[in-house]
Amino acid sequence: MSSISTAHTAIASIPVTDRPPAGQLTERTPADLWHMARAVLDANWSRNHTVPSRTLYPHQWSWDAAFIAIGLARIDPDRAWHDLRSLFLAQWPDGRVPHIVFDPDVAERDYFPGPGFWQVPLRRPGHPDGTGIVQPPAHALAVWEIYQRAPGPQAEAELRWFYPRLVAAQDYLSSCRDATGDGLASIVHPWESGLDNSPAWDAALAAVPADLGVLVGRQRHDNRVAAAAHRPTDEDYARFVALALAYRDGGYRDDELAARHDFVVECPTFNALLAAAEHALARIAAVIGADPAVHLDRAARITRAVDDQLWNPQTGMYHARDVRTGRLSPARCVSGLVPLILPGLPPDRVAALVATAESHRFGLSASMPVASYDRSAADFDPVRYWRGPVWININWLLRRGLREHGHLDQAETLRDAMLELVRRSGYYEYFHPETGDGVGSAAFSWTAALVLDLLGEGEAPPVSGPVD
Ligand code: DGY
Repeated sequence: MSSISTAHTAIASIPVTDRPPAGQLTERTPADLWHMARAVLDANWSRNHTVPSRTLYPHQWSWDAAFIAIGLARIDPDRAWHDLRSLFLAQWPDGRVPHIVFDPDVAERDYFPGPGFWQVPLRRPGHPDGTGIVQPPAHALAVWEIYQRAPGPQAEAELRWFYPRLVAAQDYLSSCRDATGDGLASIVHPWESGLDNSPAWDAALAAVPADLGVLVGRQRHDNRVAAAAHRPTDEDYARFVALALAYRDGGYRDDELAARHDFVVECPTFNALLAAAEHALARIAAVIGADPAVHLDRAARITRAVDDQLWNPQTGMYHARDVRTGRLSPARCVSGLVPLILPGLPPDRVAALVATAESHRFGLSASMPVASYDRSAADFDPVRYWRGPVWININWLLRRGLREHGHLDQAETLRDAMLELVRRSGYYEYFHPETGDGVGSAAFSWTAALVLDLLGEGEAPPVSGPVD
């Protein structure tokens, strides 16, 4: 484990959260970015896990943990394993991995909705509390990435520890959450997508009453530590709370979901990661002597289902599907580009997705990564969370997709654009898609982690090496 206390002292002098004058920004070298990213991750380390942000997200989040581990693997693979293990300690007996694992040292008033709200029934002695909903299954990908950074007997032991847990998580999603039997996993809450207030959910959410009454006696924490204009509206938040209460009060059951629950949606990013996880599991299986074939079969089946169910030929991208109505969301959201990460995608789909990413709607260019929503949409909002801003994790995934399909020039353009953004603005949670200004939380863990990963491919200091 790296020396966190030394790092804590060191970061005091690093201006991670302040934006220096423009002249200095362009002078930040890759080594500066590397130092600063390490400092963010060290500052956000809490006993046995990394928090996404000290202010907004003081517990451990599920898909954040996967992206964070990918970055940690570049500087300290032991810590990467440790971090991801702490998430899986809260895995439910049915295989689901909670979207938040709560730190018992954080007071209930410091995050809403905290453990008192979720009232998870299956507490196991010695295991941390979590929520009853999930997030996109990016963890198998992370496990394989960590292994690749530092293979060897200890890493193989880690693969053996994670493999059955990852398989259980996939089984839960592929069986309990396949609400229609069409081979895709459904989400039962926008928080499960990780893209909480994306316009992708608007059509399905219209069926959920925005009863502000559910917020009475409950205090949003996010708006106390971040600008309200950058966060989901109260109407959306009321729907989020109502859906969480309904799922909780139904005992977190998944039977008859489409008939019982108001929000049951198939998300292209969630399912693309579900298939990508099977590809990663196939590789892991090959190392530990398990059967890769079963995972490759599952990956192919999910990929086909994504393509059959979620493709819209009119828009040249994938769309979320409301299981209750059978309709595709009309919104063009970046979640519909992420299936580009899938190896088995037909070439015409790949060409269409790349064209859509490069179009005026998403604006992939040398100067800016891809926005989270169609820039030409009437309700495009450059600062509100997932309704316009640029996010590094999604662009990191898109870059993987570009590389997967041989679009190496565009992949390099995207890498440069991401690095330029953090060079100018710092490790923010998300970025204004026109000015590049940082928005949301400063010193955000996955932004720092994924930049470490990008830097680690090239000119950055070596893994675990001294930074000076
Ligand atoms: C939040 O706290 O806003 C999260 O995105 C919900 O998981």
